[in-house]
Amino acid sequence: TYIVTDACVRCKYTDCVEVCPVDCFYEGENFLVIHPDECIDCGVCEPECPVEAIKPDTEDDKDGKWLAINSKFAETWPNITLRKDAPADADAMADETGKYEKYFS
Ligand code: SF4
Ligand code: F3S
Repeated sequence: TYIVTDACVRCKYTDCVEVCPVDCFYEGENFLVIHPDECIDCGVCEPECPVEAIKPDTEDDKDGKWLAINSKFAETWPNITLRKDAPADADAMADETGKYEKYFS
């Protein structure tokens, strides 16, 4: 499966949601997640994200932290299929690292 990772936190550009053939993105206040059981591994969303937040779960997630986060929140957050405006400070947040620890609660 593909998953959304740290870089999406407080950027939320939502370019990804429009290309998914199975509409498996779910939206929280600060970032999006992919439902791992619904994702068909097509990979078309990966290059759409301007901050490269979308990864195969086999890459950069060796401890499974982001896979677990995607699984958990996809169950309760609402589905999102239409692109929307990013937060006003999204570009300023794009280069930050460790965003999960700083902003996720
Ligand atoms: Fe959707 Fe394909 Fe991305 Fe999975 S890899 S979230 S199916 S666009
Ligand atoms: Fe997030 Fe990138 Fe989509 S910032 S909302 S994963 S386009």
